[in-house]
Amino acid sequence: MNMLQVINRKRDGLKHTQEELDFVAQASANEHVPDYQLSSWLMAVRINGMDEQETFWLTEAMAKHGTQLKLSGIRKKRVDKHSTGGVGDGVSLALVPLVACAGVAVPMMSGRGLGHTGGTLDKLESIPNLKVRLTPKKISDQLDSVGAVMFGQGAGLAPADRKLYALRDATATVDSLPLIVSSILSKKAAEDLDALVMDVKSGQGAIFETPAEAEKLARLLIKTAARLKLPAVALITDMQEPLGKAVGNALEIKQAIEVLSGDGPHDYIELLLTLGGWMLTLAKKASNWEDGAEKLERILRSGEGLKKFKLIVAAQGGNARVVDLPEKYLPQAKFSVPFKASQSGFIAHWDARRIGEAARILGAGRLVMEDPIDYSAGIYLKKQRGDEVEKEEVIAWLYSNNLVKMNQEAAHLKQAVTIEKRKPKASPLIIKVIR
Ligand code: URA
Repeated sequence: MNMLQVINRKRDGLKHTQEELDFVAQASANEHVPDYQLSSWLMAVRINGMDEQETFWLTEAMAKHGTQLKLSGIRKKRVDKHSTGGVGDGVSLALVPLVACAGVAVPMMSGRGLGHTGGTLDKLESIPNLKVRLTPKKISDQLDSVGAVMFGQGAGLAPADRKLYALRDATATVDSLPLIVSSILSKKAAEDLDALVMDVKSGQGAIFETPAEAEKLARLLIKTAARLKLPAVALITDMQEPLGKAVGNALEIKQAIEVLSGDGPHDYIELLLTLGGWMLTLAKKASNWEDGAEKLERILRSGEGLKKFKLIVAAQGGNARVVDLPEKYLPQAKFSVPFKASQSGFIAHWDARRIGEAARILGAGRLVMEDPIDYSAGIYLKKQRGDEVEKEEVIAWLYSNNLVKMNQEAAHLKQAVTIEKRKPKASPLIIKVIR
């Protein structure tokens, strides 16, 4: 078998065999097929799709061709959470320490930014010296001693996803159901989990804009997880607006520290407690998600979550003083520009996709695979949907080390906000739960 034959079959709309998908996973993991052939196959899948069986075969093969964590020696239940990606969705940063405080072991394998959406690994790396490329032994030891660990695929975990994920970002093949499902679940299958909670975003800032498309994705995730024998639940959550106030790597770390200190945007906290409530439920530490959310709220108020975050940062070599003095130890942008309201009224909408794209251009994300990240870059939304504003009041700040780009993006931001005379009706953040 060779890659050209595999590409030909998908280009012609045929169903792949298990052997063909194993070949693709192995070729991606070992990098013995050129990027242009993998990219061409990705586009054929994006256009012609794959069925449930093919999606499962690909996921299984992507998890298999790489290191598999062996974490069953850990006495606690191991539960992880994964998001399909949003704008300002740094919720994992506060969720991991909080859930760990409730007695659940959280081995969180995360990815980098994809398209206009941010990635937890990029956010974590804005903490000076913090390492996310950890060996399987380090992952297991830290999970045992600290109860939580946040890492990337560096140690040979799901290497095929690492390759394909980066190529998808640069080849307009992100929004494909089977590619998203195999990407997410191959990482999670390699983690040796007891259960998984997934946050499937829906709206302008998500990969899929409508709840119906998000539901299709959620159902395929749940079906594929079941075939992998991984108990899972998927929450469809709103991503019309950016989540919280911060969009950008260091900005989102600072926001997570604020949340763990007992202060933070209401939408971020609602999502944090709901996802965490489900994680506790699947770990049998709570009778239902509401019970779990209450437990986590108490932990949040006690300040234990913040202490745990500090322990995680220190255990991974990061400068833990970041937690006490984020302004001093996190990267700071050379330039900041205020963005003012053009009229008085209420914020009716921040366009999450435009905000995500603007933050990416400011330096918070990549336009091509090799682009470096400016950890200090991003946008801080002082005012969120529903907040009242005065004409000329500062409603957002832009941060970057590139003044030219910043002035350009400040001009573009005018199209990202809608201000109306009437207060907008509240809309639900948690749209649906799929099990
Ligand atoms: N998150 C992932 O890990 N992979 C995707 O393809 C999309 C979101």
